[in-house]
Amino acid sequence: MLASFATILPLISLSIAALTVADTCKPTKETKIAKYDDLPFTEGNFNPIPPHYYGLSYFTFQVDQYDFWIPPTSGNQWTMAFGGSGNISIPDSPPNQTFELDSFSFACVSGVPQPECAIGIWGRKANGTIIERTLKFPELGPAPVGAYIMNKTRFSWEWKGLRSLGFSIARADNGGDMFGGLALDDVRYTITTPC
Ligand SMILES: *[C@@H]1O[C@H](CO)[C@@H](O)[C@H](O)[C@H]1NC(C)=O
Ligand SMILES: *[C@@H]1O[C@H](CO)[C@@H](O)[C@H](O)[C@H]1NC(C)=O
Ligand SMILES: *[C@@H]1O[C@H](CO)[C@@H](O)[C@H](O)[C@H]1NC(C)=O
Ligand SMILES: *[C@@H]1O[C@H](CO)[C@@H](O)[C@H](O)[C@H]1NC(C)=O
Repeated sequence: MLASFATILPLISLSIAALTVADTCKPTKETKIAKYDDLPFTEGNFNPIPPHYYGLSYFTFQVDQYDFWIPPTSGNQWTMAFGGSGNISIPDSPPNQTFELDSFSFACVSGVPQPECAIGIWGRKANGTIIERTLKFPELGPAPVGAYIMNKTRFSWEWKGLRSLGFSIARADNGGDMFGGLALDDVRYTITTPC
């Protein structure tokens, strides 16, 4: 009698543990790095980024390939907003997902010479809060092939709970038009899916 009770006891505590785990639903977190190298590109065409690419949707940003000026950080492709403004959002389905922006590489691409560039970034959170940051990409003068590189930045913990990111570029000195594009590569973020 005693012996059989002792064998049942662990079984009971096991099923209690299983119940507890099933009841406490934990949101899923997935870290992703969008590199754009796996996307098709045709010179001279509109090269859209397909919906839900690594969980995000792109507006204005396209796939673009290395043209022997500023190399992408990884591979030979990056994403480019040719007019300098665009946005990246989390799709509405599955519902209530948000993302936390971790880091990316960036460059303003206007040609040589180009003035210092100010990149305005807005993050819109699920609760409507807007968070902002301005990045600078340096003035570029004539330089040998291979002299230019993208710049990289990390984002603080405040860049979480995001639904979308908006970007625009302007001359850093007077706010005028850069007449160029904004390139991003190796965009790293974590998507949270609620249960
Ligand atoms: C993306 O940008 C466009 C143009 O600036 C704007 O109309 C649109 O509302 C933005 N979408 C999101 C989800 O921020
Ligand atoms: C999404 O969030 C809204 C507002 O917080 C909530 O009412 C709704 O139930 C959520 N939907 C799901 C599927 O979690
Ligand atoms: C939205 O959430 C942030 C934290 O992510 C909080 O600081 C802010 O007060 C919230 N805003 C509103 C309108 O609830
Ligand atoms: C930023 O980009 C410029 C232009 O390519 C380059 O000269 C500079 O070294 C980069 N800075 C960093 C910190 O990557």
